[in-house]
Order: sequence, then structure tokens, then C-alpha cells
Amino acid sequence: MPLSQRSTLTQFLIEERRRYPSASGDFNALILDVALACKAIARSVAFGELGGVMGNHGNTVNVQGEVQKKLDVISNDIFLRANEWGGHLSGMASEELEEPYAIPASFPRGKYLLVFDPLDGSSNIDVNVSVGSIFSVLRAPPEVAHGTRKLTVEDFLQPGTQQVAAGYAIYGPTTMLMLTVGSGVHGFTLDPNLGEFKLTHPDVMVPAETQEFAINASNSRFWEPPVKRYVDECLAGKTGPRGKDFNMRWIASMVAEAHRILMRGGVFMYPRDTKDSSKPGRLRLLYEANPIGMLMEQAGGRASTGRGPVLQIKPESLHQRIGLVFGSKNEVERIERYHDEPLPLKKADFETPLFAERSLFRD
Ligand code: AHG
Ligand code: MN
Ligand code: MN
Repeated sequence: MPLSQRSTLTQFLIEERRRYPSASGDFNALILDVALACKAIARSVAFGELGGVMGNHGNTVNVQGEVQKKLDVISNDIFLRANEWGGHLSGMASEELEEPYAIPASFPRGKYLLVFDPLDGSSNIDVNVSVGSIFSVLRAPPEVAHGTRKLTVEDFLQPGTQQVAAGYAIYGPTTMLMLTVGSGVHGFTLDPNLGEFKLTHPDVMVPAETQEFAINASNSRFWEPPVKRYVDECLAGKTGPRGKDFNMRWIASMVAEAHRILMRGGVFMYPRDTKDSSKPGRLRLLYEANPIGMLMEQAGGRASTGRGPVLQIKPESLHQRIGLVFGSKNEVERIERYHDEPLPLKKADFETPLFAERSLFRD
């Protein structure tokens, strides 16, 4: 299709808004500010070593206890500066900030909250593998938006079902923005000549069936039995109970895994495990699991803790971690089923090759 016939992100948002005649336009302006932040981060990432942006940010660690990369800090600042001034937000929360960021008094407050992971997969920056930014839009309580009450952490602790919009930008061979405003998932590719996101992937759907899974297998000794069973069955391939071969991928950038799954299906698992009892999972609920979960569900896929829909979890803290399984619906449901089924065998039994043969564990 000739470039001129494709909608820009702006045109897409305006056309969506026409379906809600009472909408003020704040929401569209917010999404365009987020998109601008993503374009700025894409430029920083693209310059790499030439931009002096590689490597660690001194010896600082974030609230997660993880070493911050220079680009984590730069991306966080870009998000804050692009979104604080517009009057659409009452506050922001970020992976890189321990506490919520209240909109400074010099700017008007607005009716939304923005939650983000400014750079996901940042351990991959120095090896030139795709990274991205993930964001989630929530409604601010009216009293906070009107300035009669201060912003609190609790204002952000809304289940994922309350998200107004969610998306990510992926900084790969091409920069793309995948967005849902609650009416499906739509993909936009950054036209580097125009600096505009253009609609290239309308109405993305995740196929229900797949033969591809993603998990960090180095954690296998910490997996819970249902996860171990699922992976063992995939590995057993044609000769196992699934009767088909599976392919495996692990990029260690969740946005890149989510993107692959939106494009061609698959299942991603970073499940709860027994590695560290203080961390019930690796990924963060508010700015990783919930936005990716909304995208998956809007694309006909499924997102789960392994036990049930992740979007229904009531968050308890800003940086809460959670087990996360998402992607092709039939596989995610199968993993949930395995969590539901009683486990009559001892854990050691799952480690024998016999396990996959037992009729008890067949469909
Ligand atoms: P972040 O870079 O924002 O801290 O997130 C990294 C996450 C996620 O993108 C990825 O799936 C996971 O960490 C990788 O974990 P492992 O290093 O355990 O593979
Ligand atoms: Mn992340
Ligand atoms: Mn991050």
C-alpha cells in the first residue's frame, strides 16, 4: 500500500475519538505525548555507542535492586518530561522510581495516571538486541484530578481490568508501537523519514494454537510441578503426550517476546517459582504484566498468573511482582488447567522421563 494511504497514529486516534462525541481530546493528546517519548527513546537507542548512552549508570540500583543502565535513566527522564506538562495526567509511576511522580504544581493536573517501564529488556542494550517501553493508562480519582487531594500510591493500585489503554514501543530493526485503547490491538510502524507512526498492523490477532514457547530454562529447578509438566510435555514433542514438536525462544526482553507472540502466536512464561520466596515471580504487575495482559486479551490471546487472569489481580504495592503466562489462548488455558489438577505424585516423580508417559497425565 502506498505510504500516503496509511493512517498516521494521530488520524487513527481522531477516528477512534469520533465514536465518543463527548471525549475531550485529553486522551488522544496523552497517547501522542507517550508516542513522542517513544520516538525520542528510539533515537537514543539507535545512536548506541556513538551517543555515549551505553553501559551502566554509575553504581546506582533501582527500587528493584537492579543495576540501572544509562538508558534506563535517560528513558525514564524522557517519559517524565514528555508527559508531565500536558494537563492530561495527575501522576506517573515508573519501574525506575520508588515513589509515584506527582505532576509539579507549575502544570495543570488531568484525569489520567500513566504507569510505565521506560526500558524493558535493558540487560540487552549492550548486545544490540531489541528493547522497548511498556505503558499503561489508568483513570485518576476525580478528587486528585481536581486538586482537592494529594496523589497516593493507592491511586495506582487498580486491577488491570481498569486500564483505559495499554501498549508498548519496540526498538528493533524497525521501531513499532503496539496499542490498545480497548477496541482491539493495532500496530504502527515508525516511518523514519516523516517521524510519524503509521498504521501497518490493524486488528492484530493471536492465533489460539501454537507450537512455540518461551521460558528461561535456567530456572527449571525452581519451577513448580505444573510448569515443569507443561515444559516436559513440549520437549517430548511428537513422541510425547502432545503428539507434536515444539520450538523454543528466549530473548530476555519481554516486549520482544510479546511482539513475536502478537505477530505469530506462542506462549511466554515467567511463572512464579521457588527461587526467592520474597519474589513471587520476576515481572512487575503494574507496568509489565497488566499492559501486556491487556494487549494479549484484546488480541484474542490470554494472560494469566498461571492460576487465573492476571488482569483481575488487585495490586498490593507499586512494584509488586507476579508470575506471568501469556499468549495463545489454548496453551495458556492448558497451563492453568495443569495448575488446577491435583498432583498425586511427589515432585521427584516429575523428574523421571516416565512422567510424560503416564496415562494419568494425558488429556
Ligand atoms: P527490565 O529490563 O525492565 O528490568 O525487564 C527485564 C525483564 C523482561 O524483559 C524479561 O522477560 C526478563 O526480565 C528477563 O529475565 P531473565 O534475565 O531472568 O531471563
Ligand atoms: Mn521490564
Ligand atoms: Mn525496565
